[in-house]
Amino acid sequence: MELNRRTVIAGAAAAGITAVATGGTAHAKGGGRAPVKSLFGTLADGTEVHRWSLANGGTRMKVLSYGGIVQSLEIPDRRGRYANVSLGFDTIEEYVASSPYFGALVGRYGNRIGQGRFTLDGTTYQLSVNDGDNSLHGGEKGFDKRVWDVEPFTRGTDVGLVLRYTSADGEMGYPGTLRTKATYTLNRHGDWRIDYEATTDKPTVCNLTSHVYYNLAGEASGTIYDHELSIDASRYTPVDSGLIPTGELARVAGTPFDFRRAKPVGRDIRVAHEQLLYGKGLDHNWVLDKGSTRRPAHAATLRDPSSGRTMRIATTEPGLQFYSGNFLDGSLVGSGGTVYRQGDGLCLETQHFPDSPNQPAFPSTVLRPGQTYRTTTVHSFGA
Ligand code: BGC
Repeated sequence: MELNRRTVIAGAAAAGITAVATGGTAHAKGGGRAPVKSLFGTLADGTEVHRWSLANGGTRMKVLSYGGIVQSLEIPDRRGRYANVSLGFDTIEEYVASSPYFGALVGRYGNRIGQGRFTLDGTTYQLSVNDGDNSLHGGEKGFDKRVWDVEPFTRGTDVGLVLRYTSADGEMGYPGTLRTKATYTLNRHGDWRIDYEATTDKPTVCNLTSHVYYNLAGEASGTIYDHELSIDASRYTPVDSGLIPTGELARVAGTPFDFRRAKPVGRDIRVAHEQLLYGKGLDHNWVLDKGSTRRPAHAATLRDPSSGRTMRIATTEPGLQFYSGNFLDGSLVGSGGTVYRQGDGLCLETQHFPDSPNQPAFPSTVLRPGQTYRTTTVHSFGA
């Protein structure tokens, strides 16, 4: 893994990468490396897609201007050995052709909106439908398939990227021009923080998230069923067969959805529970006990016993979609050169609840002119 990474960087340097330094230095204090830009590929319409490499506090990350995609996330194990813990591809063509949102920034609306339709202030909006009868992750061409404007920064001991995308009024059926900004920051402890911001010029709905598929043993190392997960949630939102919440906030106690104490992801995944049939495994929104918070508060901890790698997630959001990679079916070859099969990665998507625009009892996802949408999620890595 380490050898591969060196080879890639050496290759990129030969291809004429420039170090971009704001503030006159190529290195942030505390071991951070100023983001470095290289050409990753070109879209069919000729648009160049860049890849930014950044590192700080032992975390190394590669981010694409296409979809804000985390193409690689390397962290050390308990013996200091690095592995890429996020599923992805090596080429832009594969991301465009067939990515199940690997590593992407998801918008305007993370997860599903039933029938791809909602009513706001008396007007009904029909969205782009791309998942049976429903709209998933922003519709056919969501934020994961847009080219973002990326600006690097170094600030004190932090390094990071500011990603901006303006979604036109009516894009994918959503009302309002949505000016979106996502800031990825790596601090000197190696934590990855995402700050999302958005404003609109018409009443609309907004629910942004990140869709990294994690495998803390390393991408291409097999399934995540041995990973131990805890989620600070006493309730979850059960779904119908189309994975749209029924509106109930059901207790997790006594069900396979009880992750209040850490347990292996695979322990209860074969329990004959109707909800596991619908999701082909775990694919549900957990209602975080802390609710929406002004500051990021702890939501979940993931640990891989074999490598010792851990990830703690803190968020301002009230919900967490935990998806156990159920729809990976062996038809995609990942960046490590192996086929991805069911359960080879898992997603922990901090968000508001699915289908909130049609569920008056769920926390609101409405954004109005004059308001600023602001949410933050912090991923802290250890071993
Ligand atoms: C959803 C899954 C969906 C996947 C797409 C997840 O956020 O919960 O149902 O299949 O994204 O890759």
